[in-house]
Amino acid sequence: MTYPILKKEILTPSVIRMQIHAPLVAKKAEAGQFIILRATEDGERIPLTVADYDRERGSVTIIFQVVGATTEHLAHLNAGDLLADFVGPLGMPTDLEGLSRILVIGGGVGCAIALPIAKAAKERGMEVVSIVGFRTREFVILQEEFLRYSDTLICVSDDGTFGHQGRVTDPLADLLRQGETFDRVFAIGPLVMMKFVTETVRPYPIPVTVSMNPIMIDGTGMCGGCRLSLVDDQGIRTTKFACVDGPDFDGRQVDFDEAILRAKMYAPFERRAHEDACLLYREVEK
Ligand code: FAD
Ligand code: FES
Ligand code: MG
Repeated sequence: MTYPILKKEILTPSVIRMQIHAPLVAKKAEAGQFIILRATEDGERIPLTVADYDRERGSVTIIFQVVGATTEHLAHLNAGDLLADFVGPLGMPTDLEGLSRILVIGGGVGCAIALPIAKAAKERGMEVVSIVGFRTREFVILQEEFLRYSDTLICVSDDGTFGHQGRVTDPLADLLRQGETFDRVFAIGPLVMMKFVTETVRPYPIPVTVSMNPIMIDGTGMCGGCRLSLVDDQGIRTTKFACVDGPDFDGRQVDFDEAILRAKMYAPFERRAHEDACLLYREVEK
């Protein structure tokens, strides 16, 4: 079975949205879940969040940033091309049970993972406050969609070219200091961002959910590649597999420092593979 690309949109120079025909995934997908795809038969497997789905059309939307060899290859495919594998939905759906007012925080391409949570919450009648942050205006994605699914939207950028200047933790700290309260904060973005959002919320009695994105290979709990450590308030450590136990976890329990170290493990190899892929495409385009 192959999976046709139905539509491709360039959101920024390095972020692409694609709709894939995958009716079985579309039928069951929920906010917070992900798929694992292989662009070609001999390609590596990469996890991407289900950014949206249309059960009637049988389509699933993915949004990805070009960061390495496989996403570079994916970015060179177009509507009409076929993906070799598209497995899912995987992982646990985001738990929105019993919530009525939530804060959704997205950083960079993490906004693609945060958006389905805002959308699902809005569709269930919750009040959604969103904070989105980008390095600079050039990297802004999904602004219209966040406006649609948020009652209040606060935008920030590192250099002030989009919204207020600062980090997502600045308006977060302001809101909490002003006495605003939420049933839960959802934070999705770089590990360092999620760590600092958790630290900002820690003094307040508000639960924080983070979406963890360690290296995943099989996505079924068998290979152990996606393991991470949780530490409870008694200091007891447990190992979890992000692919089956997550990707959502209680931010207060995640050992972010270990996760940050593990995320860097394959960096030299990944850099070389990306350089090779870029060289290959430059040759092809000559
Ligand atoms: P590489 O150069 O191979 O790697 C670049 C970086 O991407 C690595 O340092 C590592 O941090 C990460 N990465 C590489 N291989 C994997 C892998 N097999 N599993 C997990 N991370 C990997 N990115 C998006 O742009 N949009 C999304 O919606 C999205 N959702 C994700 C959901 C989950 C549950 C997880 C675990 C990751 C998600 N990612 C998402 C990250 C995405 O999987 C990586 O960017 C992608 O695998 C990079 O592959 P590459 O070969 O292009 O880059
Ligand atoms: Fe293999 Fe999670 S990806 S155990
Ligand atoms: Mg790779």
